[in-house]
Amino acid sequence: MGVQSLAYVTFDIADPAYWQDLYTRVFGMQLLEREDGVIDVRCDEMHHRLSLYPTGKDALRSVGWQMKDADDLLALVERLRGMGLDVTEGSPELCAERKVYKLFRFHEPFLSLETELVAGQQSEKFAFVPTRGIAGYKTGPLGLGHVVFHTHDVDGAVAFYREVMGFGISDYMAFADAQAVFLHCNPRHHTLAIMNLCMGRQTGDFNHLMVEAKDYDDIGYAYDIARDAQFPLIMDLGKHSNDHVHSFYIRTAGGYGVEYGYGGRLVGPDWQVNYYDQPMLYGHRWA
Ligand SMILES: [Fe+2]
Repeated sequence: MGVQSLAYVTFDIADPAYWQDLYTRVFGMQLLEREDGVIDVRCDEMHHRLSLYPTGKDALRSVGWQMKDADDLLALVERLRGMGLDVTEGSPELCAERKVYKLFRFHEPFLSLETELVAGQQSEKFAFVPTRGIAGYKTGPLGLGHVVFHTHDVDGAVAFYREVMGFGISDYMAFADAQAVFLHCNPRHHTLAIMNLCMGRQTGDFNHLMVEAKDYDDIGYAYDIARDAQFPLIMDLGKHSNDHVHSFYIRTAGGYGVEYGYGGRLVGPDWQVNYYDQPMLYGHRWA
């Protein structure tokens, strides 16, 4: 009865031209512009995985978690309501906007996160058309990628996502003033990571979204494109200690990162929970 994968993420955006350029030129993703000006971003067989709302500010708007089916969704909703959380059913209009069969939403207090739980994400009959020659994104049962948030209550947030939302611990990390707990809900090493208030962050601050390429060359070419186009980086190319992802991080106009990764290892039944005192094996120098 737990979350199965990261279905989608929605954002407020200030400058549509900037985000269109970033997601097409660097990430090769496909844009689907709605009549109301909202931009859906596609990167696989799903109708879309990101939605960008031009509201004049840059912020994460909501996260959509995929449930196995409507029964699992309703069971989790009952559990959340039993905790006293105000969970409301999404209108047919919102389901049509998100391209999902069924949706419930609530404010998750530990990460101060507008959370949407969905069953049945719409798969498109038309192929994903990348804007440059990429092999595409590793999604499917692994979901869109991973998201990372900061909170003053790491223990409370981890307990909620483990005991209520159905995530498992992948590993722990601490370096400098940072503490992080990595959680999985499918074989992807982590779909969610929860960090303390390091680096001047506040509760609810969004650290980054990670998307994973099917081919290392996709991120190699993207790295050159990003550098040539002078998109600022948070971290240079490198390999992470825990999930073994090769990646680099773009510092977006929203202040948060988008990590373009490749080669993440998978969590299996014999997974051992480790502790790391550094986030990288090599590279990932702060830009
Ligand atoms: Fe990451």
